[in-house]
Amino acid sequence: MYKQLQQRGMDSPPVNIGTLRQMKAEGEPIAALTAYDASFSQLVDMAATDLVLVGDSLGMVIQGHDTTVPVTVDDIVYHTRIVTRGLRRAFLVSDLPFMSYATPEQALDNAVRLMQEGGAMMVKLEGGRGQTAVVECLAQHDIPVCAHLGLKPQSVHKIGGFRVQGREREAAQRMVEDALALQNAGADIVLLECVPNEVGKAITAAVDVPVIGIGAGPHVDGQILVLYDILGITQGRTPRFVKNFMVGADSNLAAIEAYVQAVKDRSYPAEEHCFS
Ligand code: KIV
Repeated sequence: MYKQLQQRGMDSPPVNIGTLRQMKAEGEPIAALTAYDASFSQLVDMAATDLVLVGDSLGMVIQGHDTTVPVTVDDIVYHTRIVTRGLRRAFLVSDLPFMSYATPEQALDNAVRLMQEGGAMMVKLEGGRGQTAVVECLAQHDIPVCAHLGLKPQSVHKIGGFRVQGREREAAQRMVEDALALQNAGADIVLLECVPNEVGKAITAAVDVPVIGIGAGPHVDGQILVLYDILGITQGRTPRFVKNFMVGADSNLAAIEAYVQAVKDRSYPAEEHCFS
């Protein structure tokens, strides 16, 4: 809080949930990135990224696992705690990892850890209408929630791979209903991963809360990417929506600034980053 009070006079005050809602209302794209440590979170913040996510993608890009499933609450608490030291302005969201929110009580205990021990300002969980009781419980305790729909990486073994979701009409309709159910339960943000442009557009129009997309097309309220993907660190085949912003940049900071600018001027995502 003291840090926030000191920053009130800054040109660009710290981002909060009200700022994000206002950006949606005014049509200003929200630029978001993941971060996992203090050095990179400082660069991400310096580049005026609006929202930083300590994602369970750290299981893959930091720990070298094939999926996010092995990530624990302790891992997220540790990375959140070190990321927060690099931030001055960005809004900090942390993932509730696999099976850390199977009941409302468990979700509450673990969300409290991410906020009190880590310093997160919001928690993110994966799931549709089946998670409304969990979201309601968190919201009743004034814990801000981001609901992750579309491709849910924690369900990779259930869905049989990392694939585009919502291509069939019924599945797309169901996802719109899920987004509304989660909003009505108290979710403050919807994050949409790997869906056709039209699904991103329909959900963004249907809900009042900001919708942040990753591989969800240009019609959502904001974009998020995995930091190591935009810096060209990730080896091997990357998803269609990834763009390496190190190409043409002379530093990590310049690449992150180029990403933020591209989100703000809507030159990212281009057609080649989208699904139909
Ligand atoms: O864990 C993560 O980094 C995420 C992003 C892919 C949005 O959920």
